[in-house]
Amino acid sequence: MSEAKIIDGKAFAAGVREKVGRQVAALTKAHGIKPGLAVVLVGEDPASQVYVRSKGKATVEAGMESFEFRMPDTASHDEVLAKVEELNADDRVNAILVQLPLPDQVDEAAIINAIDPAKDVDGFHVINTGLLSTGQDAMVPCTPLGCQMMLRAELGDKLSGSNAVVLGRSNIVGKPMAQLLLQDNCTVTIAHSRTRDLPDVVRGADVLVAAVGRPEMVKGDWIKPGATVIDVGINRIERDGKMKLVGDVDFAEAVKVAGAITPVPGGVGPMTIACLLVNTLTAACRQHGVDVPEG
Ligand code: GUN
Repeated sequence: MSEAKIIDGKAFAAGVREKVGRQVAALTKAHGIKPGLAVVLVGEDPASQVYVRSKGKATVEAGMESFEFRMPDTASHDEVLAKVEELNADDRVNAILVQLPLPDQVDEAAIINAIDPAKDVDGFHVINTGLLSTGQDAMVPCTPLGCQMMLRAELGDKLSGSNAVVLGRSNIVGKPMAQLLLQDNCTVTIAHSRTRDLPDVVRGADVLVAAVGRPEMVKGDWIKPGATVIDVGINRIERDGKMKLVGDVDFAEAVKVAGAITPVPGGVGPMTIACLLVNTLTAACRQHGVDVPEG
């Protein structure tokens, strides 16, 4: 059997970032607006530090203003809340992202819901999840938005009517992903670690989005021949004495069965950052009541 097409998320993301760069330049030229993204990082988690650094770099490369705030992992709930309120009131800041997870003493849901929904580029505020699930203009979470872009590019009209299985039910990926697939007329199943006969459920998927955070859990014989597989997992494992990044899908097996598949790394990851820039631009335009410029 021939091998699956590899969906190059890195190249796709580079194209999205270049387009946002052109749109930002047009926005600044026409209206004097320079979108600003503020990222708040509480604590020293090494993976989060890497993400925050790449977000800041990508923001500046797209011609936007980047604000970074680091707080110690001993920061109190009220201190983090005060930072969010300060950023809500700052007109230079169009977009706010509080990096998750937060330390135990900070109430994550309360912090997310304290962010001005218009500046909530993560799309995690209950107002935005409600807007998304009722089909209204929402800020859409970046990772699912990136997956939707790749699926639309890959499948076009064939997405409509497909059986889509989302493996994972997180607020960050699984639930919003299911909403986006529904909007694209898929028949959507949300499966998870407690789903009965999970391999059989996954075998029904024309489109599989795996976001469970378990290294190489999805085996080749779980995949319907020709299916489109989007692997959201980023798991660090040790193999042959070396640290390695793997997805939630066993890539070596799946590539022999699927029709198209995203690799890890180089698939969904780069698209998440690209979509953060898209959302920051969208937020700035909405706040100023202007259309998003053509790219
Ligand atoms: N931690 C892991 N993924 C995300 C994300 O998409 N947004 C935020 N804020 N934190 C995260």
